Amino acid sequence: MTSFSTALTDALGIDIPILLAPMAGGPTTPELVSAVSDAGAFGQFGAAYLNGAAIRDMVGELQSRTNKGFGINLFVPEDPLVTEAEIAAATAAIAEYFAQFGVTPPDSVSNVMPDIEEQVEAVIEGGIKLSSFHLGHGSQPVIAEIKDAGIITAASATSVAEALEAEAAGIDFIIAQGSEAGGHRTTWIGDWQDSMTGTMSQITQLTNAVSTPIIAAGGIMDGRGLAAALALGACGVQMGTAFLTCPEADVHPSFQQALLNVEGDNTVMTRTFSGRPARGLRNRFITEMESSGAPVLPFPLQNTLTGSLRAAAGKVDDTDFMSMWCGQAAALSRGLPAAELIEQIVAEYQEAANSAFHSSIG
Ligand SMILES: Cc1cc2nc3c(=O)[nH]c(=O)nc-3n(C[C@H](O)[C@H](O)[C@H](O)COP(=O)(O)O)c2cc1C
Repeated sequence: MTSFSTALTDALGIDIPILLAPMAGGPTTPELVSAVSDAGAFGQFGAAYLNGAAIRDMVGELQSRTNKGFGINLFVPEDPLVTEAEIAAATAAIAEYFAQFGVTPPDSVSNVMPDIEEQVEAVIEGGIKLSSFHLGHGSQPVIAEIKDAGIITAASATSVAEALEAEAAGIDFIIAQGSEAGGHRTTWIGDWQDSMTGTMSQITQLTNAVSTPIIAAGGIMDGRGLAAALALGACGVQMGTAFLTCPEADVHPSFQQALLNVEGDNTVMTRTFSGRPARGLRNRFITEMESSGAPVLPFPLQNTLTGSLRAAAGKVDDTDFMSMWCGQAAALSRGLPAAELIEQIVAEYQEAANSAFHSSIG
């Protein structure tokens, strides 16, 4: 039997150094998070859009489903300033799409992200195993408070500068988010285009730059990816796209089917749906918005603006107007229950590790 011992497995008390990427907005259901933790890996719930009370309920539900550890992930808030004229222009730019679905655009677009202090309070009260951050790392006092409660901390980074800052703030594990990764880029220092380093280069650069252990994320879909990440010095991997086609995930069936049908790489980085650069399957909305150069509000305002459009598209199975976030290796999606997927990944890891050994002596 394959057994792992890394900084990640030791700290979290898990058998397999795989984290389910937290995926806010639905995919990481309590069923999926608990199935991943029960299988010996580590489930994380994407709680960015939940307020403190909802996080308390979710922690309770997860604790009732599994006696294993799990993580809760939050977004570090952004509060962009925009004018009414900018909101009106961005709304007008997509009015035709709203009309197509018979939906009225929202009257006002405001920042509806929950209060991070309340979210952190709920995380601390929950006494969970891991608290992870995206789009930033939380301030040093907040991290210290979380750690004083016995909770391990993690944050994603897309550059050496971000990793150094997260380390200085006291973060325990840094997730190296390679450019292949699905979903939003965490980038909080500088321009996102300057932080599009691929996962392999990202792991090696970050492991050289900081002493905090590195978890690899982006395009890792199987045991070969896990073996490669560990060989490069990561202590584990965080996988999102691989779990999107699990039956336990709450992902639109047409998006799941699209993932299972992908050949090659049909993903693109875009700000059109949410206002923040994110990687997902190309569709009509992205293509038309980009070719027309339509105005796009900053995150989270564009996300709020397009919310009812995306929901309306979901109701009628129209993947041309859904945000289908996924990574560049989506073609390796399998559609298996989480426990079976993890079992296969561990078997593939063993095979990859064996063949690397044989080729080195062959
Ligand atoms: C649908 C989707 C939603 C995501 N939501 C979050 C999130 O809420 N918080 C977070 O830290 N990362 C989020 N991510 C990014 C992942 O943490 C990770 O960087 C990415 O999934 C790794 O690449 P992969 O999808 O190729 O495995 C999301 C990714 C996807 C695909």
